[in-house]
Amino acid sequence: MIGLMPSSSTMLLPTAATFLLLLAAPGVQAWGAMGHETVAYVATDFVAAGTRTYFQSLLGDASADYLASVASWADSYRYTKAGKFSAGFHYIDAHDDPPASCGVDFSRDCGAGGCIVSAISNYTSRLLDTDLSSSDRQIAAKMVIHFLGDIGQPLHNENLDVGGNDIHVEYSGDETNLHHIWDSEIPESVSGGSSLSSARSWATSLTTAINSGTYKSQAGGWVSGLSIADAQNTTIDWATESNAYVCSVVLVGGIDAVENKDLSGDYTTTAQPVVSLQIAKQGYRLAKWLDAIATAV
Ligand SMILES: *[C@@H]1O[C@H](CO)[C@@H](O)[C@H](O)[C@H]1NC(C)=O
Ligand SMILES: *[C@@H]1O[C@H](CO)[C@@H](O)[C@H](O)[C@H]1NC(C)=O
Ligand SMILES: [Zn+2]
Repeated sequence: MIGLMPSSSTMLLPTAATFLLLLAAPGVQAWGAMGHETVAYVATDFVAAGTRTYFQSLLGDASADYLASVASWADSYRYTKAGKFSAGFHYIDAHDDPPASCGVDFSRDCGAGGCIVSAISNYTSRLLDTDLSSSDRQIAAKMVIHFLGDIGQPLHNENLDVGGNDIHVEYSGDETNLHHIWDSEIPESVSGGSSLSSARSWATSLTTAINSGTYKSQAGGWVSGLSIADAQNTTIDWATESNAYVCSVVLVGGIDAVENKDLSGDYTTTAQPVVSLQIAKQGYRLAKWLDAIATAV
């Protein structure tokens, strides 16, 4: 009977498979690859010359894309058998109560298996440990570059509905979820696309905003208290700041205000400045973090 299957249903199979892959994709990434690449390019624009040399050598890439090209490696690794243990390192499950109250508490929210805060500490220590092989330190570098991006995404600092993955929304008529649009659709609505070149040009405008524009007066504050020796306290502060946007913007009207709604209009317009700020901030912080490591090692 297989041979008699009408060609129309045969034709549906690849479409259905593609659809399932698209549905599975949201869990795969943090900021989408483009967001991570933008964080990395902003960092590239601000690292000291010695930091650039150090990381280009460690990563074996002398190009200008040495940080951006490894920025989303950790999102592929977490889905491999060898990298499965690292899946929980991409977020911290704040058990708060948005939009009424937000907050992150390390002992309450960082599970026994670790979280983004403990992972940044761990991989920063491993980068500094010259007894480790260069391939282990290369992995540590890729993890740090990635997780300093993830921590800026508000829904990576939230337990509710699996960080919004279980909140169904629409975007320009497409079925997706709240977590996914914060990773990809909203950032791409700002940068104009998902390519590496979109990331590079968005980073250039964020770098200008830090040097001489909107962010000039704030950038110093973004890195005040930054300490690789006290990585846990530093990154808990960043997680707390990022998580606060879950109450003030992401879920400001509660779940009912977003669930099953198309969020490509006013919701996106309100979210865009937050996404730009968080990407710029984490890129600038990543530059200072890598500077501190290159200086200490
Ligand atoms: C630190 O990183 C190593 C290498 O990936 C991993 O095996 C270990 O479980 C991590 N430790 C913590 C506490 O996250
Ligand atoms: C981390 O912050 C806590 C609370 O503010 C403080 O008591 C502790 O000394 C800090 N840890 C380090 C290593 O500075
Ligand atoms: Zn991630």
